Amino acid sequence: MADLFHDKAAEWDQRPIPAQISEGVFRALREAVDFSGGLRVMDFGAGTGLVCSKIAPLVDRVLAVDISEAMLAQLAAKPELQGKVEIRCQDILHAPLGETVDLVVSAMAMHHVEDTDALLRTLHDHLAPGGRVALADLDAEDGSFHPPETQGVFHAGFDRDDLRARLAAAGFVDVEFTTACEVHRDARGYPIFLALARKG
Ligand SMILES: C[S@@+](CC[C@H](N)C(=O)[O-])C[C@H]1O[C@@H](n2cnc3c(N)ncnc32)[C@H](O)[C@@H]1O
Repeated sequence: MADLFHDKAAEWDQRPIPAQISEGVFRALREAVDFSGGLRVMDFGAGTGLVCSKIAPLVDRVLAVDISEAMLAQLAAKPELQGKVEIRCQDILHAPLGETVDLVVSAMAMHHVEDTDALLRTLHDHLAPGGRVALADLDAEDGSFHPPETQGVFHAGFDRDDLRARLAAAGFVDVEFTTACEVHRDARGYPIFLALARKG
């Protein structure tokens, strides 16, 4: 499988929009999630670890899951993550991890996965009883967020009501949405939601 983030990985952390989103998502996570008690966390689509780096000090262990070797190489080099993060470069929709976590977080990865229902079922399967997901991505937009030639973008954001129904169909309960932040590009605003739900 081609690594669609190969050419973006080295300068990903210098981009203002991923930095703004990871800040906003982390703030929203801190407000919504009780991080006490030594959680085992999966960051789905962890990339270079912008979100991992922020949550790692609060949790017992982070599994950084991604299919981009180049993005994960950046993550692996971060000193603040040494000893805290385990890296899994695999497509868990087709090759499950074989272990469960207490919390799955994800920032801006869902729109890169074509089959949202299969993804939600996979994340549900990777949760321990009572575990939670906290999934951040673009609210439904007109397709202008990514340049037109961008490969591997399957969704122009997500409609919250539609995603709520999909989360319920995948077996999640207590579904809630909050707005993590809004990023701006070319004078347009793009809100980013954080969807929270519990394994039913
Ligand atoms: C827009 S980047 C976001 C990275 C990081 N979460 C952040 O906020 O900076 C999307 C990431 O999702 C990853 N991704 C795409 N499809 C994936 C899949 N099926 N499984 C795991 N990761 C995937 C990409 O490789 C990329 O690193």
